[in-house]
Amino acid sequence: NTYDFGLVGLGVMGRNFILNVADNGFTAFGNDLDSEKVDALIKEGGNTKKVNAATDVKTFVSALGTPRKIMLLVPAGKIVDSVIENLLPFLNEGDIIIDGGNSFFTDTDRREAYLKDKGIHFFGAGVSGGAKGARKGPSIMPGGSKEAYQHVKPIFEAVSAKYKGEPCVAYLGPKSAGNYVKMVHNGIEYGLMQLTSEIYDVLKKAGRLTNTELHQIFAQWNQGRLQSFLVQITSDILAQKDDFTEADLVDMILDKAKQKGTGKWTSQNAMDLGIPVPTIDIAVSMREISALKDERILADGLYDTPSPEPLEKDTLVSKTEKALFFAFIMAYAQGMHQLADASKEYGYNLDLGEIAKIWRAGCIIRAALLADITEAFKENSRLPNLLLSPAFVDKVKETVGAARELVGYGATNGIPLPGLSSSLTYFDAYTSSRLPLNLIQAQRDYFGSHTYERLDRKGVFHTEWEK
Ligand code: 6PG
Repeated sequence: NTYDFGLVGLGVMGRNFILNVADNGFTAFGNDLDSEKVDALIKEGGNTKKVNAATDVKTFVSALGTPRKIMLLVPAGKIVDSVIENLLPFLNEGDIIIDGGNSFFTDTDRREAYLKDKGIHFFGAGVSGGAKGARKGPSIMPGGSKEAYQHVKPIFEAVSAKYKGEPCVAYLGPKSAGNYVKMVHNGIEYGLMQLTSEIYDVLKKAGRLTNTELHQIFAQWNQGRLQSFLVQITSDILAQKDDFTEADLVDMILDKAKQKGTGKWTSQNAMDLGIPVPTIDIAVSMREISALKDERILADGLYDTPSPEPLEKDTLVSKTEKALFFAFIMAYAQGMHQLADASKEYGYNLDLGEIAKIWRAGCIIRAALLADITEAFKENSRLPNLLLSPAFVDKVKETVGAARELVGYGATNGIPLPGLSSSLTYFDAYTSSRLPLNLIQAQRDYFGSHTYERLDRKGVFHTEWEK
């Protein structure tokens, strides 16, 4: 009996993914060092002809049909390298290893080159959608050898989420294209989460709304153009009661956000590429500020904070809806812009329309907006920025005013809205045909003879500024 698919790492994600593979008519074999996890999977699978597992690597590899398709769902970092080393002695030329974790893209490039020498195909495939997604249909972002992908394609297409019947998986490009796209997905995820939390804050502080009202507002938004996984779960979260106290759970949760690094990598790499992603940058910084809880408490005692002026509920709800929609567009626009540039820089040859398409269902950043983004790139695959797409011009024009008003309100009333204001500033700067950076050029030339270019004639100029 040879199995169609192998999976190393039987944590929640791995176990769910393998059961999903089996649900779709493929046989699958799991591997984990932990015998409890192996036993749990065999039990849950119910029929070892369909789902089986072993702690022993040799048993595992020998159970798979060739070319072997082995997916790793283990934590990013050194563990991936050690799992690969353990597998290698038992693999044959043409076998395929798929890293489904959030590995850093340069690690994927290194591993791909290392394994290529040994005749093994290596895929970095981002998998998004959390535990439930893995079980019921994730969005999958694979990159690697195009030929080898043909062997994995039927399985991935079957297990992936479907958007109106279309699978949320596509071959994205060579080398680390899949991990890179997943990294930027997570950067956008950080941006959308930060923006949602700011809007929740304004509604609470300016509208004095209860959690029940907030729950209803987010639920209602989820029926409209803001329809998205993150808005939907926000609504659910706001309705959740606490098990320990009478309170709502959200009010009892410590306001320090953790991070595993993917958002930070997105920002760092955007800096390397020279692509501005301020909404993502500030989302990372806010997680860092949130971690400084003790200092924040001290500082809070040293300064006066204005008490927010109340705003009328209906007006506030309508403004926040517009502002959130506006800022969501900015977060996606920045992420897509980064992908466009990375595609050239790293030779990924990415199809941005295809990426938006596979993000429409299954993943954490799935949203109604992604259908519009897909259309925008279908119309013009070389669109440098979503803000240049005619369909988006109208959406932005209609909502930017509300974003301005809320940013002004936040500043006057001491409510931090860094994601919203960065999104607005990004928009204002990107849409300015003339920025004041001529002055920076003059300063550079003044103190360092760094030269400048002119508006009216070609060439490079230097001025003796100090007379
Ligand atoms: C997904 C998520 C997931 C990520 C978590 C946690 O697409 O399913 O992006 O891959 O691990 O969101 O990320 P942080 O711990 O950095 O918040």
